Amino acid sequence: MTAAFSPGGAPAGPMLQVRDLHVQIATGRGTVRAVDGVSFEVPRGEALGLVGESGSGKSMTLRSILGVLPPTASVTSGQIILDGRDLVPLKQTDLNRIRGPKIAMIFQEPMSALNPVMRVGAQIAEGPMLHQGLSRAKAAERALDLMRRVGIPHPERRMRSYPHEFSGGMRQRVMIAIALACEPEVILCDEPTTALDVTIQDQILRLLARLCRESGVSLVFVTHDLPVVAQICQQVAVMYGGRLAEYGPVRDVLHDPRHPYTLGLVRSAPDFDNVREALIPIPGAPPSLITPPDGCRFHPRCKFAEEDCQVVEPPMKPLPGGRATACLHYERTIESLEAERAGQLDPVDLQVAAEQPDEAAPAAGSAP
Ligand SMILES: Nc1ncnc2c1ncn2[C@@H]1O[C@H](COP(=O)(O)OP(=O)(O)O)[C@@H](O)[C@H]1O
Ligand code: SF4
Ligand SMILES: [Mg+2]
Repeated sequence: MTAAFSPGGAPAGPMLQVRDLHVQIATGRGTVRAVDGVSFEVPRGEALGLVGESGSGKSMTLRSILGVLPPTASVTSGQIILDGRDLVPLKQTDLNRIRGPKIAMIFQEPMSALNPVMRVGAQIAEGPMLHQGLSRAKAAERALDLMRRVGIPHPERRMRSYPHEFSGGMRQRVMIAIALACEPEVILCDEPTTALDVTIQDQILRLLARLCRESGVSLVFVTHDLPVVAQICQQVAVMYGGRLAEYGPVRDVLHDPRHPYTLGLVRSAPDFDNVREALIPIPGAPPSLITPPDGCRFHPRCKFAEEDCQVVEPPMKPLPGGRATACLHYERTIESLEAERAGQLDPVDLQVAAEQPDEAAPAAGSAP
């Protein structure tokens, strides 16, 4: 990719590039290929949604970007380029200097990320003192301001509270304030609003979207919730079995999928079509990442699978409009969407898992 520069002089290239990332986890049952060749990029001031069923490798992808993988896991190959610099070869001491000021993460469960015996004001102020050399008084002012910005009422008083004195929603806001405290350029969000009620979720999403828009922060947003992705992300990467299934602009991917798995996700989520009334789950279970199926990992669950799908690993095929799909027969998804929209196909029909070819057509006269 050629380097581009904005008129203001700031580099205009992507803030974050993940290239062919592989993460493996050693277990007693074998090696889990948790992330197996994932690539995406996030421009400055934009949000990328990372979606897929549980176990598809979303959290491991985020954790490798931040350099906080479990001790049994490691990045075995690939690059994680933050603002032009590859983070993969860096030592923990170098990563410590980047975490906070350049990149921060908001976890799903704030209680596990907060220090239970430290007042929240001090926890928010800690990063700016450590990384930016702010005095205690200046850092406390910053913490107060951040608590106001994330919508914590009575911040002067609440600064002196401990995490257990906050509700779940308020703790999540504290964690967001900690993530923002050193003014990072990239924020990684791992299902940050899943546990929150709808009103608070909406406020937090608006805050994150405003940060992208007004402060040029880049977000990677992991969620199960496709309407949330549509609300705040410009691009979406769909993960299946440790790999990317589909990638592209949110509106195009969610409204006009080019991969049967994305179509399945959309059909199993509310608000994404006006054809069917009920949510239609994807049949079958996600693949083992210790012994994944050969060929396309989705083939045991795919209505459109053909013989080649069992042996050929589908590469990411670039499509017009900045999209890409890892499906050998993506035209079948387009055809079935068109048939469905023309009223010729019941959407439930799309969700019936393909029978395995050796069971699909028993030879005439074969023994029962
Ligand atoms: N600490 C761990 N030890 C062993 N396997 C793990 C560990 N954490 C996650 N995995 C496995 O790695 C794969 C990817 O997990 P994860 O990234 O957490 O998925 P997601 O966030 O999409 O739900 C899954 O197969 C999961 O079972
Ligand atoms: S058609 Fe084949 S390649 Fe495409 S998703 Fe289905 S099994 Fe995979
Ligand atoms: Mg996860």
